[in-house]
Amino acid sequence: FSEFLTDTFNRHHDYLRISITERCNFRCTYCMPAEGVQLSPKEHLLTSPEIYYLSSLFVSEGVTKIRLTGGEPTVRRDILPLMHSIGSLRSKGLKELALTSNGFALHRKLDSMVDAGLTGVNLSLDTLDPAMFKIITRTDGYSAVMKSINRILEMKSLGANIKLKVNCVVMRKVNRDQIIPFVEFARDKDLEVRFIEYMPFGGNKWEQEKMFPYGEMLDMIRAKYPDVQRVTGHKNDTSKTYEIPGFVGKIGFITSMTDDFCGTCNRLRITTDGNLKVCLHGNAEVSLRDLLRKGNGGKPIDDEAFEALKRVEMDRHQGLLPPGTPLGWGARERELLGVIG
Ligand code: GTP
Ligand code: 5AD
Ligand code: SF4
Repeated sequence: FSEFLTDTFNRHHDYLRISITERCNFRCTYCMPAEGVQLSPKEHLLTSPEIYYLSSLFVSEGVTKIRLTGGEPTVRRDILPLMHSIGSLRSKGLKELALTSNGFALHRKLDSMVDAGLTGVNLSLDTLDPAMFKIITRTDGYSAVMKSINRILEMKSLGANIKLKVNCVVMRKVNRDQIIPFVEFARDKDLEVRFIEYMPFGGNKWEQEKMFPYGEMLDMIRAKYPDVQRVTGHKNDTSKTYEIPGFVGKIGFITSMTDDFCGTCNRLRITTDGNLKVCLHGNAEVSLRDLLRKGNGGKPIDDEAFEALKRVEMDRHQGLLPPGTPLGWGARERELLGVIG
């Protein structure tokens, strides 16, 4: 590993998450207000050549996995050429190219994305009930999302190498009755359903009573499927994975609130406006965009960028919270934008 991708906790940051747009075609109640959010001026945002340049820089320093997030990444007009260019970094050491999407517009772009080298989709879906879907997302998009899921499963069955995870944010009074239907959903499909503890982000009116903790989710599932058992996952997984004998799919839990996974976190993040941050919840950011745009009279900016990266690595322990830190720490307004990835 190169030095700047290893931090003082000896964590190797070989997974880069890039938020490519603040915009979203949904308005999930836990993420943004009905009227949407204030968007940044266009000139503040990274261009596709800049995103590609930074991707190649990180891959040359040891990043092996890139995930595109948002907002909703599929609403970026040039996502396909962007993915094709990032996908070409396979020859430089990129192994995985993944997407986190709400699935609404995905089915139209999926085939081309797989051609570009897409290897994984994390699809957000909080309910299997179309009426509830409308309430949570404030959008009539249930059948479009299902179309995306079905197309991914179809492509997989034809041999495409795409990992599919369904992300379900569980809220006590909203969709906890969806847990069992989602477990059933995994019975005969090659996917992993991941139940996510609802997290606080600047302004999302998070309250502890709204969160449905991992322990309670597992009790609920055990009551119906006593054979559910933990399996070992990848060491950097955010989720704890379980299997139920006889089920094709798996289930998982992202326990950010009750049992964090900071110790094994390997992520680096680039925000839409080009800031590098190591921790989702940390406030330490360095503007790679400004470094890039300074240009240095045509000289490569790499040395300067590397210096900036090192400074962030030194700051990164802000993300590791001492045991007993109250819930609800560290939320920033910008996270309300849905740019939480
Ligand atoms: P893979 O491990 O690549 O499948 O992705 P992921 O689970 O990291 O990402 P995804 O975009 O599917 O996000 C799932 C959930 O994990 C979301 O609720 C994220 O906010 C949360 N998440 C992702 N990274 C972090 C992190 O570093 N810290 C915390 N606390 N939550 C995270
Ligand atoms: N808590 C937990 N997960 C959230 N997501 C969005 N907002 C929250 C929140 N407050 C999820 C989305 C998506 C993933 C990137 O983060 O549903 O699946
Ligand atoms: Fe919903 Fe994700 Fe869009 Fe936020 S960014 S409104 S969670 S689909």
